[in-house]
Amino acid sequence: MQSKTVKQLLTEDIVTPDVEVKGWVRTFRANRFIALNDGSTLNNIQCVVDFEHFDEATLKRITTGAAIHVKGELVESQGKGQNVEIQAQELIILGDSDPEKYPIQPKKHSFEFLRENAHLRTRTNTFSAVMRLRSALSFAIHKYFNDNGFYYMHSPIITGSDAEGAGEMFQVTSLDLKNPPKDDSGNIDYSEDFFGKETNLTVSGQLEAETYAMSLGKVYTFGPTFRAENSNTSRHLAEFWMIEPEVAFMDLAGNMDLAEDFMKSVIQYILDNNREDLEFLDKRLKDEDKTKPQAERSSMGLIEKLNFVTDNHFKRVSYTEAIDILRNSKPNKKKKFKYLIDDWGCDLQSEHERFLVEKHFKCPVILFDYPANIKAFYMRLNDDGKTVRAMDILFPGIGEIVGGAQREERLEVLKQKMAILDIPEEELWWYLDLRKYGTAVHSGFGLGFERLVMFATGMSNIRDVIPFPRTPQNAEF
Ligand code: 4AD
Ligand code: MG
Repeated sequence: MQSKTVKQLLTEDIVTPDVEVKGWVRTFRANRFIALNDGSTLNNIQCVVDFEHFDEATLKRITTGAAIHVKGELVESQGKGQNVEIQAQELIILGDSDPEKYPIQPKKHSFEFLRENAHLRTRTNTFSAVMRLRSALSFAIHKYFNDNGFYYMHSPIITGSDAEGAGEMFQVTSLDLKNPPKDDSGNIDYSEDFFGKETNLTVSGQLEAETYAMSLGKVYTFGPTFRAENSNTSRHLAEFWMIEPEVAFMDLAGNMDLAEDFMKSVIQYILDNNREDLEFLDKRLKDEDKTKPQAERSSMGLIEKLNFVTDNHFKRVSYTEAIDILRNSKPNKKKKFKYLIDDWGCDLQSEHERFLVEKHFKCPVILFDYPANIKAFYMRLNDDGKTVRAMDILFPGIGEIVGGAQREERLEVLKQKMAILDIPEEELWWYLDLRKYGTAVHSGFGLGFERLVMFATGMSNIRDVIPFPRTPQNAEF
């Protein structure tokens, strides 16, 4: 006898003797019907217990949350909602679960409550579906790059550089900070540190990925990144995963083509392979929508939205065009934007991004050619001397999901920019070397993985799409 997953058993339609399965009890109804789940699928398998065959002590231990091992015969189900069920012949309790104390009761729990029980929340349908989709998306991403000739590059987590130049880094040190070595002026003496300098957790693997693009051609990173920004929003985490492709000899137009093809492809992958979980989340959102006033209901279902992205061209709009549109628009008849667009050159707020995507263009938008002074130092300066070849992809319900650029490949221009921003050349000598030895046009982008998972699952809080969210309030688990 071989233990099978619930998913495997549910697709078997023949009567099979001697099956066995292990999982966690969701419910035990009428001392007769166990709904058993093992995480392999959203569905439970029903195990029918003939109580005369089992001692009372064993039956008492079949409680919600308990881990059990069931042996029996797979038969056609008489009940509704499933084709097969197990006629239990042997029940082994693997791990008890006190029904009074087990936090995940067979009822609807709020996401806030489940966040406090992040270690158990994947025992619910919503979170198991979300995390299976997260896993599938991760696979789809590796598959896309592998199928398209990219190499997977592991960028370092501990680094001495601030790729985004935004100063939002968590410092890493091996010094004893309770009793740190001090220099003559009383400042902490980092020269005695293990690394001999201040180091931090990476905010982006881009700069390192550029070095590999300039030798291996097409590469991507996919790893954790860290931002010490004190943002308590439903779209920001202090630790998030980022996918960063980087390609030699590719300009901004090629970068947009790549990003659009990539996004469509990974979304198509889950539409093709994860239908059951998507249908469940689609229904969840529709039910939730029914409880809202008409004006707040979403115009599209989840699956419809995913199909919409894969079927439609992303609208490409320059920053300057976008500013013109926003200046002449109101988010609705009465209201103005909270942050007004005053001059060309100001940064866009998420309300503006969402207006462009959700109200004006009503499709994913790629904004490009941003003012140089609101973007990072490494972006390629345009001939107008004031815009850079940056691109952000904006998605409905999410806002910015991708940020990327063609990189400045000209040594002198890059040095000038670094000088203006006070970025010491000694810190990035290796980055400058790329511009000295065989420099070339190259581009790349960063996709916030959790923002993609939010879009793909319809979850509205980023804390609910990563196993153990790290935010300014929460790093408990
Ligand atoms: O726009 P960002 O800061 O761009 C970069 O880091 C570039 N180095 C990427 C590149 O060109 N290789 O971040 C890229 C994406 C954003 O568009 C967003 O989706 C996500 O990363 N992101 C966050 N996601 C969750 N929490 C945060 N605090 C995030 N900050 C950025
Ligand atoms: Mg950005």
